[in-house]
Order: sequence, then structure tokens, then C-alpha cells
Amino acid sequence: MVVFRSNSEEETERLGCRIGERLDKGGFVALYGELGAGKTAFVRGLAAGLGAEGVTSPTFTLMHEYEGRLPLYHFDAYRLTYKEEAEELGFEEYFFGNGVSVVEWAENIRGILPHERLDIEITSTGEHTREIAIRPSGSGYWKIAAEVTG
Ligand SMILES: Nc1ncnc2c1ncn2[C@@H]1O[C@H](COP(=O)(O)OP(=O)(O)OP(=O)(O)O)[C@@H](O)[C@H]1O
Ligand SMILES: [Mg+2]
Repeated sequence: MVVFRSNSEEETERLGCRIGERLDKGGFVALYGELGAGKTAFVRGLAAGLGAEGVTSPTFTLMHEYEGRLPLYHFDAYRLTYKEEAEELGFEEYFFGNGVSVVEWAENIRGILPHERLDIEITSTGEHTREIAIRPSGSGYWKIAAEVTG
């Protein structure tokens, strides 16, 4: 695990951007953290790193798709309670598809998360400060985590 300390929304976006620049086809990022932690801010940066823009929260629509260097599928699992719901909604077709997937409230669909992924947990430590814990599973993600924090 690597911990990154962010002192502003812009710094969180910049970390997301550096990760987005390094993701490949099938890339998967699982986001954890309370309401207002900065998950969507992180995704805005990640999208920028993929060459996409216009990110808004998909809380009510469950998924937004953006066009960048690769397609970006941005999910919000806040309102999902059972992994069966995500299965019925066909999330897995996106997860193992040709784009990059990022999921807010990933703990709500833990059972269907790909094993190789980047887990990112954002904890608020003050009004403008956040601790961002990066936990990679799989060698490609270890490389990314080292590059963006080293
Ligand atoms: N260092 C920081 N990193 C990210 N956001 C920050 C930071 N400092 C302050 N903020 C503020 O925290 C809020 C983060 O909101 P955001 O919508 O990204 O959270 P979220 O985790 O996606 O919440 P939700 O669970 O409701 O989707 C914004 O208002 C942002 O300006
Ligand atoms: Mg959000």
C-alpha cells in the first residue's frame, strides 16, 4: 500500500490524471471513501488523463460513459445493496470490456470486482486535506502505484 497526501481538490485530480494516463484497456479502479471524500474529483482527473472531460456524478444514472484515448465507464454503486443488482445491470460486461472502469462505493459490489485492480481509499483529514491509500492487486497496478507516488 502507498499513501498519498492531498492538500487540495486539484492535487487529488492531478493524482487521478497521472493514473488515468497509465491505464490500459480493461483497466479497473475501485474507489472507497465517505460522502464528499473526493471520489468524483479523483475521477475527473482520471478522465482527463484518458483525454476525456465533462465528468459529473453518476449517482442517479449508475453509469456514465466518456470518450477518451479509451472509453471510460464511471459507475456509482452508492445505491446498490446486492452484488446481484450489479450483475443484473450488466456491470461485468463493462468491467471486462475494451475500456477503463472506475467505480465509486466499490464496497457495495465487492463480490464482482475484478481481482486485478487498483483499490483507492480516500479519507478526509481536514477541510482541504485527504489521505489517499493506493492498494494495487496485480503487477501492472503495482507499477502504476509506484510511478505516480514515487
Ligand atoms: N484534497 C481534496 N481532494 C478532493 N476533494 C476535496 C479536497 N479538499 C476539499 N475537497 C472538496 O471535497 C468535495 C469532494 O466531492 P466529491 O463529489 O468529489 O466527493 P465524492 O467522494 O465523490 O462524494 P459522493 O460519495 O457524494 O459521490 C468537493 O467539494 C471538493 O471541493
Ligand atoms: Mg461522487
